[in-house]
Amino acid sequence: MPALNDRLGGLSDYPFPRLAALLADVKPRANTPPTILTIGEPQNQPPALMLEAMAAASTLWGKYPPVAGTPEFRAAVSAWLNRRYQLPPGMVEADSAILPVSGTREALYLLAQMVVPAEKAGRKPVVLIPNPFYAVYQGAAVMAGAEPVFLNGTRETGFLPDLDAVPEETWARTSLFYLCTPANPQGAVASLDYLKRAITLARTFGFVLAIDECYAELWDKAPPPGGLEAALALGGSLSNLLVFHSLSKRSSAAGLRSGFVAGDTDLIRTFTRLRNYSLPGVPLPSMAAATALWQDETHVELNRQLYRANIDAAEAALAGRLGFYRPDGGFFLWLDVGDACGSGEEAARRLWQEGAIRVLPGAYLTQPDASGYNHGHRYIRVALVHDTETMARSLDQLGRILA
Ligand SMILES: Cc1ncc(COP(=O)(O)O)c(C=O)c1O
Repeated sequence: MPALNDRLGGLSDYPFPRLAALLADVKPRANTPPTILTIGEPQNQPPALMLEAMAAASTLWGKYPPVAGTPEFRAAVSAWLNRRYQLPPGMVEADSAILPVSGTREALYLLAQMVVPAEKAGRKPVVLIPNPFYAVYQGAAVMAGAEPVFLNGTRETGFLPDLDAVPEETWARTSLFYLCTPANPQGAVASLDYLKRAITLARTFGFVLAIDECYAELWDKAPPPGGLEAALALGGSLSNLLVFHSLSKRSSAAGLRSGFVAGDTDLIRTFTRLRNYSLPGVPLPSMAAATALWQDETHVELNRQLYRANIDAAEAALAGRLGFYRPDGGFFLWLDVGDACGSGEEAARRLWQEGAIRVLPGAYLTQPDASGYNHGHRYIRVALVHDTETMARSLDQLGRILA
């Protein structure tokens, strides 16, 4: 075995192999096809207009795509941002403040490699990560040589990081803060004031605030505020801010691998430069399809209706139990199964054995504290990604198994 990068040792085990190991010796007793509620992947089809736009651009498969994307894509995104967040024209310039990416996952990862210096405030730099968290944030921080510092998002903190709990010394060492709103998995939405505060902290302490807004279009009662909207409320500057958006959830197009980053033009310029050295551009037919998707709202409203119906079904099955609450955004339930069966791992084993229902233990999405206590151990994450009939049936069954 050749020598490897020592930093690899800092990575936790990825949640899905851990789940496979947990369930390896459990055989579902139920004689029904498995219901997979683990992965955040919409199970309905993207709208037909995606394939139509891709087919219309099919002569472009032979071309290397430019990393900066096409003017049409950037214009469609800029117009969408202006509509969605009521931004004045020119605040987010199409050609200098927007960069297409092959899904936000790779962009969230690469960003840390760009913005983590060797030292910050004379010490090892910190990357702030919400806890629970999307595993890529941790991988990115560790591989960039930073110290990941986890900020708990518990019921007590409104399921978002408590900005007041971060010591000044930590802010001073912070080079990057990943914030996810609506949060995966808790579904909590950061208010405009919260976002303004986070941006102000980024500017005061000289770090990059990366707001992962990939669930921003899936909301229950009201559209979640966004980082760009908060930047407008603070006067319109984009400095220190990047927002990440994706078509994977909004348009049920996880396989298209298409999203974008928008914000601080200096950061976007440097990011484009780094991406030229490291990653291919988004294929031109995919970008044509993505352009058409950002121009359309009809299919997005239908998706919201689907997830609302699924949350209704969840409420009917689970209200008043397992810590059920309606998530403000996204399509996950974050259920407290501690009283019902001790831990999320035990719940996952029981649900697989008795109902062929696969869920993710919360502890696989949370980092233990210094004493070894893992605040996610009482939880499971349940993805509401199937049709409503399937969801209603499986949530009813889940409620009975965990009764
Ligand atoms: C919180 C969060 N951020 C980012 C992503 C990445 O999405 P994509 O790479 O498909 O844009 C996901 C996907 O599951 C996610 O849950």
